Amino acid sequence: MSTELPESAAPPPTGSGEPFSSVPTRRTFIATSAAVGGAVVAGGAFIALPEEATAAGASPSSRVSLTVNGTRRTVTVDNRTSLLDLLREHLGLTGSKKGCNAGACGACTVLVDGHRVNACLTLAVRLEGTEVTTIEGLADGGELHPLQQAFIDQDAFQCGYCTPGQIVSGVGCVQEGHTGSPEEIREWMSGNICRCGCYVKIVRAVEQTAGRK
Ligand code: FES
Ligand code: FES
Repeated sequence: MSTELPESAAPPPTGSGEPFSSVPTRRTFIATSAAVGGAVVAGGAFIALPEEATAAGASPSSRVSLTVNGTRRTVTVDNRTSLLDLLREHLGLTGSKKGCNAGACGACTVLVDGHRVNACLTLAVRLEGTEVTTIEGLADGGELHPLQQAFIDQDAFQCGYCTPGQIVSGVGCVQEGHTGSPEEIREWMSGNICRCGCYVKIVRAVEQTAGRK
């Protein structure tokens, strides 16, 4: 299943080159994320709610341990917390942006176990033991990731709001090998929206990183 939760099956929009198996589709996420009785369905898996919590009407929480940009992090979060909010609100990693918070823009794209996902649609409690890479984790010390440098070289941004998601998605696109032509890159980057319309230069930056330019 797609990391990214596309409504349609056609080439995975952003965030989804290869499927990240434990992440629900947008359709199943919406259908199953409601609390039912003493349990909440999170991405298809039921999480039992403590009786005290349900009786008192308190929000149930869970502890989740995951590796973010190479550092092991353990956080207790409300079960409804998205990966995006975990990163931004709990870990202070604000590079991943909240554009639509609904899986439509790609601004929140991160890598989970190497696969592109929309962090806004991914429940944090589903990510126990996973490795997450955000825009903050791409540079190697003071040296930019080749795609970060390529965005500068190709002048591939204006306001920059979509840029972290574009770059992380582009890294996934290159790793997946979907860089055979500008058309292929556009297709596999199609889940990342740029309101400034920098698409031509974004494709050039991905091409540069893939060694096609
Ligand atoms: S797709 Fe996640 S914020 Fe838009
Ligand atoms: S650079 Fe402004 S939205 Fe993409």
